[in-house]
Amino acid sequence: MTNETEHTSVTSDDQLAAHETASADDKPVYRRGIKSFVIRAGRLTKGQELALERKWSEWGVELSDGEINPAKLFGRDAHTVLEIGFGMGQSLVEMAQNAPEKNYFGVEVHLPGVGSVLNLAEEAGIDNLRVSKDDAIEVLKLIPDNSIDTVQLFFPDPWHKKKHHKRRIVQSEFAQTLRRIIKPGGIFHLATDWEPYMEHMLEIMDVEEGFENIAGSGNCIDRPDDRPLTKFEKRGQGKGHGVWDMKYRTLG
Ligand SMILES: C[S@@+](CC[C@H](N)C(=O)[O-])C[C@H]1O[C@@H](n2cnc3c(N)ncnc32)[C@H](O)[C@@H]1O
Repeated sequence: MTNETEHTSVTSDDQLAAHETASADDKPVYRRGIKSFVIRAGRLTKGQELALERKWSEWGVELSDGEINPAKLFGRDAHTVLEIGFGMGQSLVEMAQNAPEKNYFGVEVHLPGVGSVLNLAEEAGIDNLRVSKDDAIEVLKLIPDNSIDTVQLFFPDPWHKKKHHKRRIVQSEFAQTLRRIIKPGGIFHLATDWEPYMEHMLEIMDVEEGFENIAGSGNCIDRPDDRPLTKFEKRGQGKGHGVWDMKYRTLG
């Protein structure tokens, strides 16, 4: 009975995903497993398409490339920031432009966003950005232990409905994967504009082994000046949403 119930619930989520992920020719895309995203329909602009053609072979990272070692990927040993779900990438490029001494590795499944970040990076004339267009859960498996300094997760999909909470990317298993790849003393920085997701983040992260909330258990930090306004955040501000930032330090 339990299995049947679970089966029914997974199927209905997959149906929802298929419904929401109707591709350009309106054929549903069925996915196995529970994902933290749905592939949004949306054509590439000419600029995004050309940026992908020009820069993907240079800056793009494929799962089939195997291990993602930041020192090899960037050709230098430097402070490495991983951003999961960068959206259209404006804030990621701004951060990379402001800190040329750091490496920035962005992961985003929305292809127009990947084209957009490459376009913006090229326009900005930066060379400290690499990009993956795959599910971060798969990408993280290829990152060696203790190789990342900071992980950024800004405004992840909140999955408002209770029956979809299992799709939220912030879960205990995800946190432990981050703990494996982040160096001791490194940072996991989260931001959300959905108060119940903030509560969920604190609930999970405050008790996760190997992490320390730098603001103290149950607390958020003030909005850091070095986090540029993201596109999603800006949209939320227009609707009067609050914003909560949290930072966790990894313990050795
Ligand atoms: C609500 S948007 C926020 C985008 C951006 N951070 C901002 O603040 O404007 C969340 C983004 O995360 C991406 N995403 C969700 N789950 C992901 C995953 N497992 N791997 C890669 N990207 C993911 C989605 O495609 C979406 O673009």
